[in-house]
Amino acid sequence: MDNIERQAKISLGRIAPRLEREFAAHVGTPAWDAFMRRLRAHFGDLFAALAPLYGAQYDFFYHLESVVATAARMWLARPARLRALDEEREGAPRWFQSERMLGGVLYVDLFAGTLDGVRARIPYFKELGLTYLHLMPPFLAPVGNSDGGYAVSSYREVDPRLGAMEDLARLAEELREEGISLVLDFVFNHTSDEHPWARRARTGDEEYRDYYYIFPDRTLPDQYGGALRDIFLDVRPGSFTYRPDMDAWVWTTFNSFQWDLNYGNPVVFVRMAEEMLSLANRGAETLRLDAVAFAWKRLGTPCESLPEVHDLVRAFNAVARIAAPALLFKSEAIVHPDEVLSYIALDQCQLSYNPLLMALLWESLATRDARLLQISMRERSHIDPRCAWVNYVRSHDDIGWTFDDDDARRVGIDPVGHRQFLNAFYTGRFPGSFARGLPFGENPRTGDARISGTCASLAGLEQAARDGVPEEIELSIRRILLLYGVALTIGGIPLIYLGDELGTPNDYGYRADEAKEGDSRWAHRPATNWSRAARRDDLETIEGRVYTGFRRLITLRQGAPALADGALEVVETGNGSVFGYVRHHADSRVLALANFSEAAQAVAANAVRLYGLGYAFTDLVTGGAIVLGEDTLVLEPYQLMCLAPAISSKAPATSSKAPAVERIVPSGQGTARLSSRPMRQNPVRQRLDL
Ligand code: GLC
Ligand code: GLC
Repeated sequence: MDNIERQAKISLGRIAPRLEREFAAHVGTPAWDAFMRRLRAHFGDLFAALAPLYGAQYDFFYHLESVVATAARMWLARPARLRALDEEREGAPRWFQSERMLGGVLYVDLFAGTLDGVRARIPYFKELGLTYLHLMPPFLAPVGNSDGGYAVSSYREVDPRLGAMEDLARLAEELREEGISLVLDFVFNHTSDEHPWARRARTGDEEYRDYYYIFPDRTLPDQYGGALRDIFLDVRPGSFTYRPDMDAWVWTTFNSFQWDLNYGNPVVFVRMAEEMLSLANRGAETLRLDAVAFAWKRLGTPCESLPEVHDLVRAFNAVARIAAPALLFKSEAIVHPDEVLSYIALDQCQLSYNPLLMALLWESLATRDARLLQISMRERSHIDPRCAWVNYVRSHDDIGWTFDDDDARRVGIDPVGHRQFLNAFYTGRFPGSFARGLPFGENPRTGDARISGTCASLAGLEQAARDGVPEEIELSIRRILLLYGVALTIGGIPLIYLGDELGTPNDYGYRADEAKEGDSRWAHRPATNWSRAARRDDLETIEGRVYTGFRRLITLRQGAPALADGALEVVETGNGSVFGYVRHHADSRVLALANFSEAAQAVAANAVRLYGLGYAFTDLVTGGAIVLGEDTLVLEPYQLMCLAPAISSKAPATSSKAPAVERIVPSGQGTARLSSRPMRQNPVRQRLDL
């Protein structure tokens, strides 16, 4: 037994009887026994995570005891149905790897006005097939600019414009009854400057000043500052804000009204652990660890993804295992791919955004070349099989080009120039670009920038619809479906930014709103236009064509056991424009081929056969049958094929004499090939409300 383990054992031995005195009324109940069982199982992890952070402080034991008492109190307050869910999830810890999983994300106000409005849209979520719903922070926040709710003034109160806490709990409950898990943010790196803790700090209360990083002058900010990244460059350079009311400088990594919490102070950990459990007790099944990389600071470092951040996440995770075991964490680390991986573990975040896939889907679309995507996914997407990626095409945030520079060089790409190209391409500045995105955080000094834009606008639909060119509209719809098609089939949990399934373009209205104008991310957070949504089944409209395409892909995913969990084998297609991967689960296999070019592309039949799928396939996307001959398989522009071995997939006896080119047997549904659908002739511009 190593030292830490021994100390943990001794500490638990001391804490347990004190706890039993404090909670005497509960001792002996099944709930108490369940708590003690989990405490014994996970206390060692909690101790091992907290000891390196706070073990050297004289009052470590006091804080350790307070966090355990907090966990006990919150467990006892946990509703019975959630305790039942805890057991269910402990019994099936890989539940989120099912092929039925599908996520959606929305802003409550922009999607449906209020929490009750969201609840009224449950039939829409069900129609789409969602099993996971992420609400952007609906909590009390400053009026005006609150960074879309990411400046939280109270984790226990809902923004009154959206409803009340009871409405949130009711929504969680009804969603769960419909098989949809609620995902909320745990905005734990910072609070708003209106949070009661910040208010007390502002009045000079020493105890609360220690909850934040507050400096009397520029000495320390200057010492830290040199190594830090500017996150919100458009709004405010640097990471510190001068407060005239306090005559002091406050650490604000993001906006000046978002005050970074000081986790060097163990009280902050204990109190935030309680906030976390209160969110879990309201029914959140997954918490998104917002801005996780920034949560620990150390002088002389860039203060991102320090080893202490990992301990902090492990400590929160251990608390969750003890007092709300159904809870999962999703990491929001939009950083270098190696760093992203460092948060994904059973004892940290079981789920993580996959920003590398996201960025490289767009990169491949711009270049019509999937090689960087291919090597990156082959080498950098392996995670613990008990965890899962959340695969998305775009989020409420900007797109950053976070690929590895050496990977880029290996495929002959100069990383610096390439990022400039991608920014020029997606802002539409590059000649011939189909994209209509906006720069975010553009740094005139370095030329760095990130990109804002909805999926439709970045994929060309905004421009194509404005021009009213049917061929361009068709191509941009295919691009949207290609990107989402990969996200839906490559493993983990696919996540739709709601609105993308209707081909929603950018909304430039934010420029007229004082609270939003400086932040181009609002362009890709449009309010849901329900009259557009009402056209979703009308194939004469753009919305209908995009939505129907989504539904077909979702049905495919949810009906293909091969697409469960995350096992991914990236394959060599022999064609740089075609990204290929095999997904397998139990005995089923699917070979996906994605053509990132607007020209038809061929893949050698041999390359397909190599992956052990035989000769006769069904393309799950079109339902068409394909029999491979000797020659090549041809993919239409931007086509995604998902090839599953046909029922009798044995090689035909006459295989060597099989016809030289593949035969595509239409499925009878009239949608066997993308190209078989006529291009729309009537201008559809007026139908896509621009
Ligand atoms: C997160 C959010 C982003 C927000 C920032 C500060 O990364 O996704 O929208 O601006 O953190 O909370
Ligand atoms: C940066 C941060 C990320 C944050 C985003 C806001 O990329 O790394 O955490 O969400 O900025 O747009």
